Amino acid sequence: MTQKMNIHNPQHRELMIEQILKGHMVALPTETVYGLAVRADDDQAVMNLFKKKGRPSFNPLIVHYASWEDVAATFAMNSCEENLARHFWPGPLTLVLDRPPDLYIASCVSANLPTLAVRVPDHDFTRSLIRDIGCPLAMPSANRSGRLSPTSPEHVLADFPHDGTILIADGGACTLGLESTVVDARNPQQISLLRPGIITKEDLKPWGNISSSSDLKNNKSSSHLAKTPSSPSSPGCLTSHYAPSRPLRMNVTTPLTHEAFLGFSGSPLATRDLSPQGCLREASKNLYHDLHLLDREPFTSIAVAPIPNQGLGITINDRLARAASSHPTNQNLSS
Ligand code: TXA
Ligand code: MG
Repeated sequence: MTQKMNIHNPQHRELMIEQILKGHMVALPTETVYGLAVRADDDQAVMNLFKKKGRPSFNPLIVHYASWEDVAATFAMNSCEENLARHFWPGPLTLVLDRPPDLYIASCVSANLPTLAVRVPDHDFTRSLIRDIGCPLAMPSANRSGRLSPTSPEHVLADFPHDGTILIADGGACTLGLESTVVDARNPQQISLLRPGIITKEDLKPWGNISSSSDLKNNKSSSHLAKTPSSPSSPGCLTSHYAPSRPLRMNVTTPLTHEAFLGFSGSPLATRDLSPQGCLREASKNLYHDLHLLDREPFTSIAVAPIPNQGLGITINDRLARAASSHPTNQNLSS
């Protein structure tokens, strides 16, 4: 069985460190979602992680460091990257940086790209574990590839129920509940927002011109990667992703019979409401939590109320659109 570990128990902490040092996987809490961690310098451990998640090898992983100083000592950053890092770390920002020559990180972590995505998570336990391990951790979200990200240890358990090789550090519910924002600021004149996240386009504006992936679609030359299935610009942006097991429909005002209805801002008939007060931060924290819950109930499909497409609503709609496109059959459903 997959085992839950108490983060306040020194023996459990030692066991988790020992497992990671040996190249095994441990699920760790972050402020965004739970991650499935292995040491980033171990090719075999990273390949086992891809296999365990069922993740395509072309989809690179984020490497998590204990501190901004550790990143600065390893990567040559331009002043824009440095300013973003100083402002947002520790926190829900992932920076795509040039990979220095002879870096000790396994090349399969970044799918053999010339770049590496890097983040310093805002979670004391996880940062202290990375510090004591003495090696950064490759850590994708702790779900099977394509499925909903986990925001609690129970979600990790549900995706990997009978897996004797995974320990889960129980840090309770994640405080933010949606993944980090992935940004490429290697060209400081044009910062690319590769995956919308908790940090919004507006939050990034003080640091320069921002183009988002929707802008990039119209201007392939500004992306550092060709947009082919084998090398998407940020493969978490694969069209179908972040999906519950049931079909999901967006922008619904009248749900069908036998359909769960995820409301927003006091929707009548809602099975659950992402935020009865219409607060987008509360809705983003509840999104995966509520979708996990509704996915366990005996409904045929999940309908979601319209979410305003501004600020964090853009991130919520991004995840919902990917979840919706994972089930082509839901095109046949109508309200
Ligand atoms: O909040 C988060 O970012 C969580 C927690 C655990 O840190 N992690 C997470 O990891 O969401 P994952 O593997 O589920 O998503 C990583 C995203 C993917 O969209 C991947 O394509 C992108 O980061 N990515 C990783 N390396 C990249 C690179 N070198 N260039 C462009 N995108 C990259
Ligand atoms: Mg993921």
